[in-house]
Amino acid sequence: MHSTWKDAYKIGIEEIDQTHEHLFALFNEFVELCGKRAPLQTLLSRFHTLISYVEVHFAEEEQIMQDRGYEDFADHKDIHSHLICDAKEVAKDLARAEDSDDMLPYIHCLQSLIIEHILRQDRQITAH
Ligand SMILES: [Fe+2]
Ligand SMILES: [Fe+2]
Repeated sequence: MHSTWKDAYKIGIEEIDQTHEHLFALFNEFVELCGKRAPLQTLLSRFHTLISYVEVHFAEEEQIMQDRGYEDFADHKDIHSHLICDAKEVAKDLARAEDSDDMLPYIHCLQSLIIEHILRQDRQITAH
């Protein structure tokens, strides 16, 4: 699944929008590498880079929410923690994969969860 970034996904906070756009690019690069049958070790290390990027993004986003006094901060932070747990579970599955095709369903699932989070909860940060 190649997901094209659209301006409609912007929430109106520049730092957040830029990292979201970069996150789309990282997922797409990863899916392309799977399609090119890159070595499993390369894919795994790219995936760990992707998770680290997501973790840094979540921390930055949480700081921005706190600075703005966002009232649903605690629930949003909880959702971030769950997404990171999901991503770490995917990393475990990937470490057991024998073929890059095995990785795609997990990656697509995680990609959908994160995109959905951006479109639903992140959007709420500026909706008030
Ligand atoms: Fe976000
Ligand atoms: Fe978020």
